[in-house]
Amino acid sequence: MSEQSQIGVTGLAVMGANLARNIGRNGWSVAVHNRSPEKTRRFIEDYGGEGDFTGTETSAEFVAALARPRKIIIMVKAGAPVDAVLAELAPLLDEGDILIDGGNSHFPDTRRRTEEMEARGLRFLGIGVSGGEEGALLGPSIMPGGSREAYAEVEPILTKIAAQVEGIPCCTYVGPGGAGHYVKMVHNGIEYADIQLITEAYDLMRSVAGLSVGEIARTFEQWNEGELESFLIEITAKVLAKQDPRGEGPLIDKIVDQAEQKGTGRWTSEDALEQGVPLTAITEAVFARALSALRDERAAAARTLAGPEPTRPAERRELLDDIQHALYASKVVAYAQGFQQMAAASRANDWDLDLGAMATIWRGGCIIRARFLDRIKDAYDAGEVTNLLTVPYFRDAVASAQEAWRRVIVAAVEQGVAVPAFTSSLAYYDGYRRAPGPAGLIQGLRDYFGAHTYRRTDAEGSYHVRWPQDGEEVRTDA
Ligand code: 6PG
Repeated sequence: MSEQSQIGVTGLAVMGANLARNIGRNGWSVAVHNRSPEKTRRFIEDYGGEGDFTGTETSAEFVAALARPRKIIIMVKAGAPVDAVLAELAPLLDEGDILIDGGNSHFPDTRRRTEEMEARGLRFLGIGVSGGEEGALLGPSIMPGGSREAYAEVEPILTKIAAQVEGIPCCTYVGPGGAGHYVKMVHNGIEYADIQLITEAYDLMRSVAGLSVGEIARTFEQWNEGELESFLIEITAKVLAKQDPRGEGPLIDKIVDQAEQKGTGRWTSEDALEQGVPLTAITEAVFARALSALRDERAAAARTLAGPEPTRPAERRELLDDIQHALYASKVVAYAQGFQQMAAASRANDWDLDLGAMATIWRGGCIIRARFLDRIKDAYDAGEVTNLLTVPYFRDAVASAQEAWRRVIVAAVEQGVAVPAFTSSLAYYDGYRRAPGPAGLIQGLRDYFGAHTYRRTDAEGSYHVRWPQDGEEVRTDA
């Protein structure tokens, strides 16, 4: 019997260590490795008893510890560190060995690495792993992309260690090349939108409705019992309920109001701009983080720029109900946009993404897990989806929320409270349901200053008006 391990994990920071433990606890033998060997030693000391682990100190030792075809999960920081690990490991490997990048890599990098590794006779998978530290240990959502036959070799492991919802693993093959990391990127973009929408709802409850932080925490707790039920709403209640361990009052009031970001939300927006997909909620969420980062400027502006002082509404209960509806409707838009983006990428790259399956694997384990995703899965199961907003369930849900949604935005504007993701989601909804829209004027102006031409609603062809000359319309494509 071979003593070699069935799979290897390199990179033993918390995500890598927890993923290795998850695999080991599920019965597979795992060789572990880290650039600095102390971490490997500590891993074996702390968790060696949880499963069949082999600690290895050098890359050569690590590779030698693995049964062939070798399967190696790389859990290092996205970017240059992934290339460094590949450069180190690839020369030590044999044809058919499988390298698996489980970090938050940018999908064009994954595409490039797939080609580079395949050119060397190796196989490469880029897998999105969501769920944070706890998810990695207890069951993440996994979005694997790359060669389907390489995936088949690790499928039993990945589907077993993933979160399970109603007996269905939150892991399924996504598509070739960078498709897995692409879907993980959109997941993170949606995560940004979700977080921003929740933050706007909190701001409205606090600044417009005048609720205390404790009351807001309890409101989120209640909302988590209905259609909004989700991991992020659940933890919002917990974060807001937390008292400052070092002093008086809620901890939230001591946390610096500058949001950070590692780039996945920005990539999602960049890709949407590239593809021409309207992705307003996620993009506003990225910009809202950037605006929050201007803390000193904001502090100065707070003293000089005019605006209304929020006043308390007479009917708090109604406002709270309205905010709940506005949050739900905006969330539908954010997800609808994210799914439109994945559909566009699937067409452009021939990925043949199964969007219902993506909703299915996001139902558990990941940061955006939510009751809501069952509805999205149902929508795709029921047939062709042009846009989730037009699917009867969501169409009706937004129809009944929309008056409240508008009232909340009016109140926010009147009271001078910025709600960019709520507002841009409503603008998308109204823009999407407008036929005809006003863009004919854009075309008229472009034709006036640049002879860019326009098409007519009542005739075929392209046209131009000789604006400054004789004002005559001429056909330009005849
Ligand atoms: C996940 C998370 C994870 C990470 C984000 C945070 O799915 O487990 O999305 O990947 O927490 O990358 O991103 P920011 O630091 O950009 O907010």
